[in-house]
Amino acid sequence: MENLFTEETAKQIPYYLQKLLLQGRKADALRLLEKQIEADGGLFEDDKDFKEGKRISWLLRIDLLREWNRLSEALAWTCLECEINPTNVAAQALKEQLKRQLKLVPAKTNTVKTQFQPTLNWDGVAGMRELKAIFERDIILPLREPEIYELYKVTLPNGVLLYGPPGCGKTFIARKLAQVLNYNFREIKPSDLGSIYVHGAQEKIGKLFADAKASAPCMLFLDEIEAFVPSRSGFGMSHSYQAEVNEFLVHLNECEKNKILVVGATNLPNLIDPAVRRPGRLDKKIFVAPPDLEARAEAMKLYMKDRPQTEIDFIQLAEQTECYTFAELELIVNEAAREALGNRKPISTETILKSVLKNKPAHNPQLIEKMRTAVDEG
Ligand SMILES: Nc1ncnc2c1ncn2[C@@H]1O[C@H](COP(=O)(O)OP(=O)(O)O)[C@@H](O)[C@H]1O
Ligand SMILES: [Mg+2]
Repeated sequence: MENLFTEETAKQIPYYLQKLLLQGRKADALRLLEKQIEADGGLFEDDKDFKEGKRISWLLRIDLLREWNRLSEALAWTCLECEINPTNVAAQALKEQLKRQLKLVPAKTNTVKTQFQPTLNWDGVAGMRELKAIFERDIILPLREPEIYELYKVTLPNGVLLYGPPGCGKTFIARKLAQVLNYNFREIKPSDLGSIYVHGAQEKIGKLFADAKASAPCMLFLDEIEAFVPSRSGFGMSHSYQAEVNEFLVHLNECEKNKILVVGATNLPNLIDPAVRRPGRLDKKIFVAPPDLEARAEAMKLYMKDRPQTEIDFIQLAEQTECYTFAELELIVNEAAREALGNRKPISTETILKSVLKNKPAHNPQLIEKMRTAVDEG
């Protein structure tokens, strides 16, 4: 790859990186990331996505080095970043953690943080490397190293909005995040409140937040959040639910102070009252895309476990199933298994590929890109 990155090549990085990792080509994977980190973006140098791509590559490099237990190298890169870019608070926080992990400084004592594991345990999460890196930078590090963030006067996260197509892991990853943070987890769906827009809903909402506060530190997960805080223009509402929506907003303002992390999830971000996304409320929005290459390969491996099979080419299968959701991948494997059973043969790559051809995904790349950018426009 050339040194001059275009928007298109930059977008391909996650795909090539994941492929190299699936093939076990660690050195090549690091080299690819380094190329992007050092890349000259030309006309794109100031582009928001280009810059973010570089930052993510930087995080991924540190993450891989940690995963491979090359902690001193990770620390060296982190120290370099702190030198070059002293306002990178996440790098400062990572540096402190790595120093403690390497026992270069004593572990934190007398704080709740001592119960945290030194490395993040995302076991059972297939793929999603970028999402995990963003969670670490934007949520986990600030909550674990608040002193550093206070020093730099960077506010701690109050809440996050996860959005994206259904069946792609929003609920799943929110639960995992609570585990990684070692936070209690409270989940509510619109159906748990009955209709929140009936008499007494305001008290119910108050009780919900009070309960979360009592179990702090706590993640309050609001699934299908658009139903709790609908925008006035959405839903074609005949009656204003502003009192209930305001009740939510008031409580959202208090969450950070009360050690409650609010995570909202939605497939329909445009139907949320925009006031929810104001600073101090759910001010971070994170797109949860359909499973990436690694996630697809790992998920299919999981679905194939303990089934009679020939040697399966999971990389090829993952390459042929872009845009498929987890549920769609599972269906494909189940169908291939049924077909193989009918023929009294072990499942082969070909059987699965046949099933892929028969079952088209509900989404396509254009649709997904439109969903990703919908919130900015809306
Ligand atoms: N990273 C992942 N690794 C393995 N399984 C996953 C992952 N993300 C999601 N899943 C599985 O995919 C299915 C759909 O995920 P879910 O969180 O319910 O999607 P959403 O909330 O976005 O509609 C669930 O069965 C979940 O266990
Ligand atoms: Mg869900």
